[in-house]
Amino acid sequence: MFALDRDLPTADNTDNSEPLATKHASVLPAEVLHWLDPQPGQIIVDATLGAGGHTRLIAEKIGPTGKMISLDCDPFMIETAKKRLTNPNITFVHASFDQLRQVLDELNIPAVDGILADLGICSDQLDDSARGLSFQREGPLDMRLDPTRGMPASALVAQLDERSLADLIFQLGEERFSRRIAKAIVLERKINSIRTTTDLAELVRRCVPRSGKIDPATRTFQAFRIAVNCEMESLDSFLQLAPYCLKPEGRLVIISFHSLEDRKVKAAFKDTSRYLALTRKPVQAGEEEENRNARSRSAKLRAAKKV
Ligand SMILES: C[S@@+](CC[C@H](N)C(=O)[O-])C[C@H]1O[C@@H](n2cnc3c(N)ncnc32)[C@H](O)[C@@H]1O
Repeated sequence: MFALDRDLPTADNTDNSEPLATKHASVLPAEVLHWLDPQPGQIIVDATLGAGGHTRLIAEKIGPTGKMISLDCDPFMIETAKKRLTNPNITFVHASFDQLRQVLDELNIPAVDGILADLGICSDQLDDSARGLSFQREGPLDMRLDPTRGMPASALVAQLDERSLADLIFQLGEERFSRRIAKAIVLERKINSIRTTTDLAELVRRCVPRSGKIDPATRTFQAFRIAVNCEMESLDSFLQLAPYCLKPEGRLVIISFHSLEDRKVKAAFKDTSRYLALTRKPVQAGEEEENRNARSRSAKLRAAKKV
């Protein structure tokens, strides 16, 4: 199920002061424009609207004759972006990008000129303790980007058996202490329920030795977030369906933030029956951007054309 612009609640514009602030700085902005190469009058999809930074840049390039279709699975991010973007050529859609073909059908658009997907989450989502995405902020252990779908992380932590927990943490977090963490979760939940981000973060910190600056809870939180939001499955479907949404020569640009995602994008772009890879190696942020925006340090951009 998804909701098009016309079905979404209108942004509350009664406050005419500043547009809603966002802490999110879009990564690789110049590189996105270079590889997506949006031209006046084109139809472009931003599959991950977020705070709307990339949508804004692309909408400026395609101009008033172009059409921008911007999706996000998080209704809160759609509301945030809607308040910041007043361009009438943007259609906002509450949907997962694995539903892109249905979304375009609903809008009577057979194919588009370009698609951008900037994977992962926004700073706004991470900073909102109520979303339960950050081990640095006390909040309910939820982690759903779309609160209308799926189960919160607390349900996985409460219900999965020890082996499944260990596999999840190992495969999606690449955490080598996964068995130890799974065992500790199973022991702990016999006594106390693990309901908050702090409950889980402290348990993991007791199991994993600290090395360097990275918080020991980082990989486990990544694993649960990926599992809760079915991120790997959505990316697989999206990589399959994107060629059916693009015009011939249409461009697909994907920014990933961890090796599991990048591996999938790299493998898909090697399929020469569907894609012609434009980037041989992933494009990464320069030193200036890395210093300004810490998030950009792990960003890897790959671009391809539909063959
Ligand atoms: C890194 S942020 C995008 C930031 C955006 N490019 C900008 O410039 O502000 C990623 C966004 O993708 C959304 N997202 C994650 N998985 C998604 C999916 N399967 N379908 C649609 N949106 C998704 C998240 O909710 C988040 O808002």
